[in-house]
Amino acid sequence: MSFQTTLRRARAPIRAAALASAPRSATFARAAFRRYSTEPEPPKKGNTALYIGLTAAALGVGAYFIYTSDESPLGVKATYVPTREDYQKVYNRIAEIIESASDAGYDDGSYGPVLLRLAWHSSGTYDEQTKTGGSNYATMRFNPESGHGANAGLDVARNLMEGVKKEFPWISYGDLWTLAGVAAIQEMAGPKVPWRPGRVDGFTENCTPDGRLPDAAQGADHVRAIFYRMGFNDQEIVALSGAHALGRCHTNRSGFDGPWTFSPTTVTNDYYKLLFEESWVWRKWNGPKQLQDKKTKSLMMLPTDYVLVQDKSFKKYAKAYADNQDLFFKDFAAAVARLFELGVPTNQFSEEPYTLKSTLD
Ligand code: HEM
Repeated sequence: MSFQTTLRRARAPIRAAALASAPRSATFARAAFRRYSTEPEPPKKGNTALYIGLTAAALGVGAYFIYTSDESPLGVKATYVPTREDYQKVYNRIAEIIESASDAGYDDGSYGPVLLRLAWHSSGTYDEQTKTGGSNYATMRFNPESGHGANAGLDVARNLMEGVKKEFPWISYGDLWTLAGVAAIQEMAGPKVPWRPGRVDGFTENCTPDGRLPDAAQGADHVRAIFYRMGFNDQEIVALSGAHALGRCHTNRSGFDGPWTFSPTTVTNDYYKLLFEESWVWRKWNGPKQLQDKKTKSLMMLPTDYVLVQDKSFKKYAKAYADNQDLFFKDFAAAVARLFELGVPTNQFSEEPYTLKSTLD
């Protein structure tokens, strides 16, 4: 049995007892235990390490309640509170991983787009009415959410982040995934996106039902229903959609095919420009309904992208972003920052959002 397993098992009855006696709701009480993820480093192999590990585990049993519980008589929360510099280190590591895609021969030479999609899909499950879903619990780690059709292909991004989690075990998955979304945008020459830590790891029971993420085959009513449920307005819907300047569709993930722009690893307002400037026709192919540009036939738009120039209210904002990249950057950064905090109770944040340094600075 590994040291971590021993420790986890030893902690379990104490955690359970404390939960049972906690005066608040079970979910919140559980969340409070994981304000900061404090998994220890894996021990070195060998007997000495084993003895040290077992002794530490025994001490940990007693100390766990005192040091990591909100119910602690000492009122002390986590043993290790990471600093901004710690988060910058995680950011820098993610930036290296984003770059490593070119050596790996992945897509267009960047893991940025798929990491941004992970951050968005983990946040975009939020329901403002029931206050469920969102980035707080990183429930896409669990079945059934990992198997939801909309999340096809995101195992690539989750696996990449698993390596970072091993290196920085104190970070919660929700913080890690949203930080990766921020790094993706900034490292692909996008705007600075304010971010702050505070998300906690949840459980399978926190998984959201299938159907909370948008279906690309539908129209404006559906897009509004999905994003209004999260609490966004038309302007924010259009700004967020500009993320499709990045990345591409994969036939083995969504069934759709191709990139939206000629520069899928750089944040630009080209997505809006192309929507207005190109002639878009339905592609004749053996796949789901999607549009292609008449001129080069190498770009694509989803039906939900095309509604941005068909719907009067959406079109107004799309035109403004096509005409003004600075405006798009400003509104995109603000909407993404809000997206990544959906579902996180504000009392879990201990500070104001701040910006992390990009390696392009
Ligand atoms: C109506 C709303 C949206 C729909 C229907 C939609 C749909 C899709 C689909 C079908 C794909 C292709 C997945 C694949 O085959 O790999 C995709 C990719 C992507 N989406 Fe969206 N999306 C929406 C909104 C957003 C938002 C709000 C963001 C971020 C803020 C975003 C970021 C991305 C990125 C970066 C990719 C590229 C992923 C890659 O290259 O692997 N999308 N989206």
